[in-house]
Amino acid sequence: MTELLQVKGLTKSFGSVHAVKSIDFSIQEGRCVALLGPNGAGKTTTIRMLTGLLAPTSGEVRFHSLARGEDHRSLIGYLPQTPAFHNGMSGMEYVVYSGRLCGLSASDARKRAMELLERVGLASAAKRRVGGYSGGMKQRLGLAQALVHHPKLLVMDEPVSALDPLGRREVLRLLQELKSETTVLFSTHVLHDAEELCDDVVIIRDGEVALQGSLAAIRNEHRRPVIELKLEDAPHAINWAQSFLQKSRTDELRYSWLSEAELQGNRLYMTASHMDVARQGLMEELTEHKVPFSRLEVGYSSLEDLFMKVVSG
Ligand SMILES: Nc1ncnc2c1ncn2[C@@H]1O[C@H](COP(=O)(O)OP(=O)(O)OP(=O)(O)O)[C@@H](O)[C@H]1O
Ligand SMILES: [Mg+2]
Repeated sequence: MTELLQVKGLTKSFGSVHAVKSIDFSIQEGRCVALLGPNGAGKTTTIRMLTGLLAPTSGEVRFHSLARGEDHRSLIGYLPQTPAFHNGMSGMEYVVYSGRLCGLSASDARKRAMELLERVGLASAAKRRVGGYSGGMKQRLGLAQALVHHPKLLVMDEPVSALDPLGRREVLRLLQELKSETTVLFSTHVLHDAEELCDDVVIIRDGEVALQGSLAAIRNEHRRPVIELKLEDAPHAINWAQSFLQKSRTDELRYSWLSEAELQGNRLYMTASHMDVARQGLMEELTEHKVPFSRLEVGYSSLEDLFMKVVSG
């Protein structure tokens, strides 16, 4: 795999607000990378520094195909979080205009615009006013605009967050196709979108990288066996659960199979260190104390569990 770019010590402060605190990550050519994090994590600030629209307080973005300090803006196609369109223009006029701004001749801009509108499924709406487009159509037009100069890297800030379910589907389907044609970085606060599209994730929280790597590796590395026990609504059952929690904290040797446990209402959630030993140990407990329960479920923690843990600290 060839590395396309490297972000090193990238930092941005707005007065006393430290929006991005020395983050490092790299992007490999051909990969689709999600910048994932909750609201206010620093995604937009990071993306705007990456695209060259915002000067970092310190740190750098380095494209390997360029000399240090050389302007990399022409290598990036950018779709902002809230793109502004000239509503009076037609879709065609808008993409031609974007192409002209990038230095294409009138006839090349026209050719490229037709090709791209076709590509994003807007050929039949090309002559309609952008003001009458749906949210999904506007996002697809924004993508056509971002691709006009054949960028090496397509950067999108929350490309589907503001869309209704239908618009989301339209745009996700298009991104699924585009990602095989170019390197992609997009931000999202929705894990599901990242899982659906990307190969790699960079999870940020409070302006810092909390976790990064390929989704496959993260999924493998952080998968933990979990057990969910639903107790009957009986005082005996709840009493047992409380004393079990107590015992498991004080007698760590006997309960070494248990790494975490939490009681929520009449449900006991347990994370096990060894599934087989845990199953055995728990069954013994339940039998010995004649614990009335209505369901016992054994499975593995999901990426969602990990994400919630990482972003909530
Ligand atoms: N121009 C600015 N001036 C002052 N503070 C700012 C500015 N831009 C961003 N911030 C602050 O920096 C932090 C990160 O903001 P940013 O917009 O990068 O987050 P985000 O991850 O994109 O959030 P969202 O999911 O809401 O889009 C926030 O605390 C925000 O209030
Ligand atoms: Mg943002």
